[in-house]
Amino acid sequence: MRKISYRVRPETAVLTRGFDPKLSVGSARPPVYRSSTFVFPSPEAAERAFGIVLGKIRPLGDDRPDLIYARLNHPNAEILEQQLVPLERGANSAAVFNSGMAAIFTVILAFLERGGSLIYTQPLYGGSQHLIHQIIEPLGFDARGVPAGNTKALTEAIEQANNLSLVLIETPANPTLVMTDIAQAAAAVRRKPKRPLLAIDNTLLGPTFQHPLIHGADLAIYSATKFLGGFSDLLAGAVLATDPELIETLTGVRALLGNILQADECWILDSRLSTVALRMNRQS
Ligand SMILES: Cc1ncc(COP(=O)(O)O)c(C=O)c1O
Repeated sequence: MRKISYRVRPETAVLTRGFDPKLSVGSARPPVYRSSTFVFPSPEAAERAFGIVLGKIRPLGDDRPDLIYARLNHPNAEILEQQLVPLERGANSAAVFNSGMAAIFTVILAFLERGGSLIYTQPLYGGSQHLIHQIIEPLGFDARGVPAGNTKALTEAIEQANNLSLVLIETPANPTLVMTDIAQAAAAVRRKPKRPLLAIDNTLLGPTFQHPLIHGADLAIYSATKFLGGFSDLLAGAVLATDPELIETLTGVRALLGNILQADECWILDSRLSTVALRMNRQS
């Protein structure tokens, strides 16, 4: 029989990705897996799962490791992460967090190298600004603010910075709505001999109206509490990347910080993804 390949739009792909009803008695919607711990089919499977988590074994292709413990990973987070991917053009991988702040903090902590510096656009959402001043700078990292929307100042700051690990841009900025040119910043980081990462807080325009990864950003960060959640009834955060290894690094740090999004919140949030484009277009 001729094999038909179905190509669906991203807004439709969120309905079908990440969940196989066969694994859950045919239910059309995923169940909520409220389990902190997972059972291995054999001691060998346990050895292999821990080997993968500890980076001693690399999984082959689509071969998925057995789940271990919900702080590391759990089915509802996996489902939500796979459903988020088609919404962010250029993304191949996602990680979910228990707030937007948790997502931003984990990105900064994971990618600021020892002795490394951070450049950020100003203003940032107040919480992000406080995070930099009250936690990141006292830890000894150099953090420099550059006015949002000023491509020349941002390019010069990137060119002149020593040991630059990360550039964090919030565009449009909360609360001024000033926009910063993502592609120009992406070009500037690529001219550095040791390339820093470019992270965009895409909360205000994404995932419907702005796609930072196709403009050269490495990470798109969300307070999913806003448009993704849509009803002011949950807190969540997400990070998406083209390079799955960046997400693997983040989920490794997430496992240690314990800030993965819990199963119930994942379930609620994935039920909202199918309408995010409709809601954002209507709201705009
Ligand atoms: C642009 C932006 N980024 C991040 C955050 C923080 O997100 P959360 O409240 O989900 O921690 C907010 C919250 O208002 C925000 O507006």
